[in-house]
Amino acid sequence: MRAVDIIAKKRDNNPLTAKEIDFFVQGFTRGEIPDYQAASLLMAIYLRGMSEQETVYLTMSMARSGEMLDLSPIAPFVVDKHSTGGVGDKTTLVVVPLVAATGLPVGKISGRGLGFTGGTLDKLESIPGFQANFSTEEFMATLRDCGIVVVGQTADMVPADGKFYALRDVTATVSNISLIASSIMSKKIASGANAIVLDVKVGLGAFMHTREDASALAHAMANIGQVLGRRVAAVISDMNQPLGRAVGNALELKEAIATLHGHGPTDFLEHCLIIASQMIILADRARDAQEAREVLLHKLDSGQAWRKFRDWIVGQRGDEAYINDPSLLPQAIFIEPLPSPRSGYVAGLDAMEVGLTAGILGGGRARKGDLIDHAVGIVLTKKIGDYVKRGEPLLTIHANNDEQKLTDAKQRLLDAYSWSDEPVERPLLVHEIIT
Ligand code: URA
Repeated sequence: MRAVDIIAKKRDNNPLTAKEIDFFVQGFTRGEIPDYQAASLLMAIYLRGMSEQETVYLTMSMARSGEMLDLSPIAPFVVDKHSTGGVGDKTTLVVVPLVAATGLPVGKISGRGLGFTGGTLDKLESIPGFQANFSTEEFMATLRDCGIVVVGQTADMVPADGKFYALRDVTATVSNISLIASSIMSKKIASGANAIVLDVKVGLGAFMHTREDASALAHAMANIGQVLGRRVAAVISDMNQPLGRAVGNALELKEAIATLHGHGPTDFLEHCLIIASQMIILADRARDAQEAREVLLHKLDSGQAWRKFRDWIVGQRGDEAYINDPSLLPQAIFIEPLPSPRSGYVAGLDAMEVGLTAGILGGGRARKGDLIDHAVGIVLTKKIGDYVKRGEPLLTIHANNDEQKLTDAKQRLLDAYSWSDEPVERPLLVHEIIT
């Protein structure tokens, strides 16, 4: 078998067999197939698509590229969640300790920033010392001792996804249903999750722009879960404007900490409660959304979720001082408000533009392995439906070093807003829950 023939087959729109997919995935993981051939295959898949069957083969092959964990000796039932990627989406940082506070262990493989979206690991790594690169033994021990562990793809765990993910990020091959579904589900299968809640984002700041595409992605992932005997629920949630107010790594971490202390943005808290509720319902810890919500609010209000968060960060060697006093976290040099050019109601706030701008300020990667700036980003003051007077701040830009970047960011962000003279309804948070 030769990699070039597999690329040509997909380029010509022919289905790949399980053997061909596995040959490519394992060869690429071992370093025998170079990045340029993997990038070509990714682009061929992106343009030609894959069938349900090919997507299942790809998922299994990626999951098997490393160890497949059996968590049953330390946790009888493990529940996980995964977002398909959004802007300002710091949900994992709140949901994981919230659910773990109910006694359900959460063992999770997360990702870094992808395209214009942020990644949980990049946010967590704003905390000095935080370790996302664990061996299998460390993963198991931390899950047993803390009830939470969140790591990245490593040489031991889904290395194929680690390599494909980094390549997709910089080759414009992210937003394809089969590539997203296999990337997410391979991580969930390899990390031994029994139940998975999929947060499928739809809108301008998501990889799926329409309800139909989001629904197709949810069904592709649910199908993989079903074939592999996992319980799956999918929440189709809105990503036309950023979630919460903060966009940028340390800024989002601060917002998550504030939310765990009871003073986060309402839309973000509500979203976290919806996702966490689905997780505890799937794990049979609550009968319905109402009961789940009461349990979770108690965990939040009593401080138990915050204490879980602290134990988790310390368990992954993060310096506790930085989360106890978030003002110690990385801070940008320039912190500048952006005044509104007019009075009126905010009718639109293009989440993708906000995500791209945070990336250009230094919060994302343009090439594989680029270092990111944890301090930079944007904090929104005005979102869809809000009334603004001319000159009032729409948002605050956090930038470092480069004044030109700050000037460019201002223009892009002004263009991200659209306006109405009439009142505008706030968008729905969730469009559909598929159980
Ligand atoms: N999250 C992932 O883990 N993979 C994707 O492809 C998109 C979001």
